[in-house]
Amino acid sequence: MSNKWWGQVAYQIYPKSFCDSNGDGIGDLQGIISKLDYLKDLGVKLVWLSPIFKSPFVDQGYDIADYQAIDPTFGTMEDFDELLAKAKERGISIILDLVINHCSSEHEWFKKACADLNSEEAKYFYIREGKNGCPPDNLRSYFGGSVWEKLPGHENEDLWYLHYFCKEQPDLNWYYEPLRQKLYEMINFWLEKGVAGFRIDAIMNIAKDLTFPGLPADAPDGMCSAAKMTAKLSDEAATFLHEMNNATFKKHGAISVAEAFGVNPESLSNYIGKDGFFSTIFDFSARELNEKYPACYRYRPVSIAKWRDTIFASQERVNDIGFMCPIIENHDEPRGVSYYLPRHAQNADGAKAFGAVNVLLRGMPFIYQGQEIGMTNTRFDSIYEFDDVAAKDNYKVALEAGLSERQALDILNIESRDNARTPVLWSDEKNAGFSSAQITWLKVHQDYKNLNVRAQQNDPDSTLAFYQKLIALKNNEPYHDILTDGKFVALEPQAEYVVPFARELNGKQIQVIANFEDSAIVHKVTPNAQVVLSSKSVEIKDNQIIIPAVCAVVIAL
Ligand code: NOJ
Repeated sequence: MSNKWWGQVAYQIYPKSFCDSNGDGIGDLQGIISKLDYLKDLGVKLVWLSPIFKSPFVDQGYDIADYQAIDPTFGTMEDFDELLAKAKERGISIILDLVINHCSSEHEWFKKACADLNSEEAKYFYIREGKNGCPPDNLRSYFGGSVWEKLPGHENEDLWYLHYFCKEQPDLNWYYEPLRQKLYEMINFWLEKGVAGFRIDAIMNIAKDLTFPGLPADAPDGMCSAAKMTAKLSDEAATFLHEMNNATFKKHGAISVAEAFGVNPESLSNYIGKDGFFSTIFDFSARELNEKYPACYRYRPVSIAKWRDTIFASQERVNDIGFMCPIIENHDEPRGVSYYLPRHAQNADGAKAFGAVNVLLRGMPFIYQGQEIGMTNTRFDSIYEFDDVAAKDNYKVALEAGLSERQALDILNIESRDNARTPVLWSDEKNAGFSSAQITWLKVHQDYKNLNVRAQQNDPDSTLAFYQKLIALKNNEPYHDILTDGKFVALEPQAEYVVPFARELNGKQIQVIANFEDSAIVHKVTPNAQVVLSSKSVEIKDNQIIIPAVCAVVIAL
């Protein structure tokens, strides 16, 4: 693999919840700067910041009002420059979030478009007449309701604009070449500043069928999920993505990590192959298991066995093509330990074993803030404690479908995006050391007195200490090469909740056996086997290892 990023471990920061330096209850850039040594000690080399740009925060910064300005909530451009420089001193590269399927309705482009339909900016958006008094098509937005909204200032006319996400996130018209050039200039502005690259948001949605034909309804509301249209058009985005790569990332040797749901598996090499338009994409295959059920209230649990089979299939699919980024969770997911693991493993033991799988699978793993200390879902006691636009819509839809408030709340406590958006737990002090404010923007996790960074820094057996060891194993020889370039090989699970795989290179093998069962399993090995890391103490005897309940073992052969 020639990609220079290959072989690193990356970390996602959700800035609102990472660390608050000025006591307003919201995380900020100076807060991140104050934790750079923590990230360095953890061993991560690449940090993705979720959006820090000027925004009204209807969708927490994924609604951008100015692509080249830092939102004052987070600080200033000087703070950002300081962050870049200080991260670099510590060997850490920064990547930003590139949200270019849509902007904010507060962006001056959209304001100008609404003010003058003949303006240049009006061409940046999809503004269309309705059909027989109805919106132009029947697609349902990702956050509920139609993807069409009446154009502000033109409510008495039959004029609608397209938004696949919130109505405050109008979609940008990628079919208009001058707009694409503007976006590329903006990307190059940040790359010239020294960011290492981007995580690219919702990018598959840029392909549209400009006849807006709609799709057969997939629910009683008569609408069809916009995701289905995106999946249908997946190959259509390729020309734009190729052009964008040539005009931006490629010129700068930048890393591009795409959030690309619905890529046609046959086209994967165009995305992440040697000459692909992206360096890599996230592996969302486990997440997609639930996408079949558009409404949250129809949520189905995904067991670790299902997770394993799904992730193993996608690891095998890309072995000879490129690499994907393994994740357990992110700011759009509940905490993986709570969501995928059986109840008896929803604890530090489970977090460590799951961490071993995440870090040692083939690809560049992303660790989401707080995952490295084993954060679980936060308990929300009322709908008023949620902030997320999707959570609120899901709650409403669940009530409309006849669920009680209690039932709807229970589901959000399992499924909601806010589960992983609550503040990072730094200590057992006020607000878990995240902020000195009276109230934080989202509530603090209930277990912060025991579950926090400071407690774990003093404990060699902590989840944090184990993550440090895992990352060090991947970063350094003698195992860096095999854990980077080694082929993924699925091993036969000894029991239902066991995740066993190997990495192979030049006749050598590293095996990772993660046992999530509530009892020990026996794993047979060859006489040359050595345990290089394990989350509980184990020994090899008579060519076998007894792996205790909820434990991961890394073996070199
Ligand atoms: C994906 C982001 O991760 C999510 O948080 C956001 O709501 C949507 N894209 C829209 O930008």
